[in-house]
Amino acid sequence: MIPTHYNVRHLRIEPNLVLAPMEGVTDLTFRRLVRSIGGVGLTVTEFVASEALRRGVEKAELMARFDPDEHPVAVQIYGRVPEAMAEAAKVIEAAGADIVDLNFGCPSKKVCAHSGGSSLLREPHHARQIVRAVRAAIKIPLTVKMRSGFDAERRNAPDIAAMCEDEGVEAITIHWRTRADLYGGTRAVDKIAEAKRRVRIPVVGNGDVVDAASARAMFEDTGVDAVMIGRGAIKNPWVFQQVRADLLGLPSIVVDAREKRRVLLAYFEAIRSEFGSDRGTLGRMKKIANYFTHGLPYGSDLRVAFLHSQSIDEAVAHTERFFDALAEREEARLVG
Ligand SMILES: Cc1cc2nc3c(=O)[nH]c(=O)nc-3n(C[C@H](O)[C@H](O)[C@H](O)COP(=O)(O)O)c2cc1C
Repeated sequence: MIPTHYNVRHLRIEPNLVLAPMEGVTDLTFRRLVRSIGGVGLTVTEFVASEALRRGVEKAELMARFDPDEHPVAVQIYGRVPEAMAEAAKVIEAAGADIVDLNFGCPSKKVCAHSGGSSLLREPHHARQIVRAVRAAIKIPLTVKMRSGFDAERRNAPDIAAMCEDEGVEAITIHWRTRADLYGGTRAVDKIAEAKRRVRIPVVGNGDVVDAASARAMFEDTGVDAVMIGRGAIKNPWVFQQVRADLLGLPSIVVDAREKRRVLLAYFEAIRSEFGSDRGTLGRMKKIANYFTHGLPYGSDLRVAFLHSQSIDEAVAHTERFFDALAEREEARLVG
């Protein structure tokens, strides 16, 4: 039986479908988009540098913010210094977040260079110091997100999960890839399954869940309590609704080109009003459009058009034309 909710202490998370933290993507605007579509049980911020958050750096505070009605929400932090992680966690608790999530999984050079993120998987003793310091600093639930290990020879996620449970962590998320896999590698969810057997706290499975079939496979192959979806949600923000409908045996949800057009343009408008008309907005639009059009017929046309767009208005006009043409093709097919 695939579960339909899970609990992180007193927090009931239903549906048991989690939006993954993604730096440069899952900011407040993107999370609003996903929440507005629905089907998601928990949202997580992009990772925030603990040192910056503890010092009150504005950029870190912006990354850690959430809407008053965005609950349950987890704010994720990374870093190496236990005291800094503990202080950042206190800031998050005071801001009213439901969960503090620690990043033990990020493979990026920026994070690993400071020996945070996934490099902590090689240092279980130090990872324990961090968990212990944060646990002692806050009362709200604490969770940890990690990869299955540092590399193929050191897939120690079950040990780290057991250590976390021991120290009072209340749920863990495991991405099946190792740090060495980066975003490649061959699917191997055995360590997620092993961790699930080892600990009593909820385990969330992550990695390449993109639709109902892959969500079912993650639940069935590992016995996890929930799944987390990252890139699949940028490509298709309706994925949570679709997976939920499948798990509940409801009619499947099909999204047509007109709805995709409406949602993408509304999202562009939201980031424009949030960030103004600078280059960052156009860059963010390009990033999202890149994911969003993968798998769409003629999607590469829009990606190429975006590459050459010099202004936000130009990019919006390309988007309108692309989806109008797609809608016409869809409608002609239905009529014909
Ligand atoms: C653009 C991008 C940014 C990411 N940023 C974070 C992050 O800030 N914190 C984190 O724990 N993982 C981060 N990840 C990893 C995702 O949370 C997730 O574990 C990974 O993408 C695998 O899930 P998926 O196959 O559903 O995308 C990021 C991934 C991507 C693609």
